[in-house]
Amino acid sequence: MTSSLPNLDGLLAEGVSGRGVLVRSDLNVPLDDGGEITDPGRITASVPTLKALLDAGAKVVVAAHLGRPKNGADPKLSLAPVAAALGERLGRHVQLAGDVVGSDALARAEGLTEGDILLLENVRFDPRETSKDDGERLALAGQLAELVSPGGAFVSDGFGVVHRKQASVYDVATLLPHYAGTLVAKEIEVLEKLTSSTTRPYAVVLGGSKVSDKLGVIESLATKADSIVIGGGMCFTFLAAHGLSVGTSLLETEMIDTCRRLSETYADVLRLPVDIVVAEKFAADSPPETVAADRIPEGKMGLDIGPESVRRFAALLSNAETVFWNGPMGVFEFPAFAAGTKGVAEAVAAATGKGAFTVVGGGDSAAAVRALGIAEADFSHISTGGGASLEYLEGKTLPGIEVLGRPQPS
Ligand code: 3PG
Repeated sequence: MTSSLPNLDGLLAEGVSGRGVLVRSDLNVPLDDGGEITDPGRITASVPTLKALLDAGAKVVVAAHLGRPKNGADPKLSLAPVAAALGERLGRHVQLAGDVVGSDALARAEGLTEGDILLLENVRFDPRETSKDDGERLALAGQLAELVSPGGAFVSDGFGVVHRKQASVYDVATLLPHYAGTLVAKEIEVLEKLTSSTTRPYAVVLGGSKVSDKLGVIESLATKADSIVIGGGMCFTFLAAHGLSVGTSLLETEMIDTCRRLSETYADVLRLPVDIVVAEKFAADSPPETVAADRIPEGKMGLDIGPESVRRFAALLSNAETVFWNGPMGVFEFPAFAAGTKGVAEAVAAATGKGAFTVVGGGDSAAAVRALGIAEADFSHISTGGGASLEYLEGKTLPGIEVLGRPQPS
């Protein structure tokens, strides 16, 4: 599929010197309470495309979002820290516009010369970006296209956001000649490998808090994978579906019936933890206790999978030729509840060492790998898109990819 998409090499071959190029990047990085970036992975991943364009003399305008602002501009969600971090990695100054498509963005875009880069302020400060109204989104897309006119082009490189039908992801590609950036092309190539030419045994590891986000992918991978290992907050709804009591653990009661059906249909594929690390409350200093998965005490909550589960999951992963992992096994941000995620991450890394093709699916699991100090090179690929990679594996159409396959606008 990617091979058929127009790509960055094609655009560079056309020549971009002095030409305005709008790039949609995914620079949605986690910030701590002080506004410091805690995991710059997505910024680093967006550098190659931007650098290639800048080195070729393009006038680059970057659109990106941070968080989910509710009512227009929110200073806490300004891209200012991102502009500084991006500038460091590119080794050049990244101007930040004070608005999205307002007078400041326009004036700065007009002032760009070859090899200059301008980052627009958080594109979601403009409510038209995420509007369900096609006309509203198209109007914003038109103003974004204006920033690189005349003769502008659009490069879609924000893989983490290609599952969103939003103005700067989807609509703008209907207005400008469009190309997949190197990150988007690489991510799709890897995901294609996980769906079409998979070497078996194929093991999938799913975690994270919400089971409702993962049902689609379980359903779709259960017929392709040899085993699907389930941990993290989502495992408690599955344990409840087996009739077990889960104390005060995270539970999506309305999903219990669906989990029961999946457990019955795919009994030979789905694997649940056999022990759980519980605590009285959701706190780093709440004393941990390991219990059997069918003995979770009343009033206690599960915050990690236990050591026996890690041992079993790791044994399974050691035989795998292909591994896809999405979602932490527990609250890895609290050291007392990080062992499950660390153990599984190390088992996936060991599988890579034995020659398996291993993919870490974005968001929290990618952050966990970096936070736990495991080398990124220990995995075949770390995706920048959690939701996007899951939707791809579910077989859904990703609007931001589909639009790149359409004929170029005349
Ligand atoms: C992500 O963090 O998964 C992407 O940046 C998309 O963000 P969103 O879920 O707020 O659309």
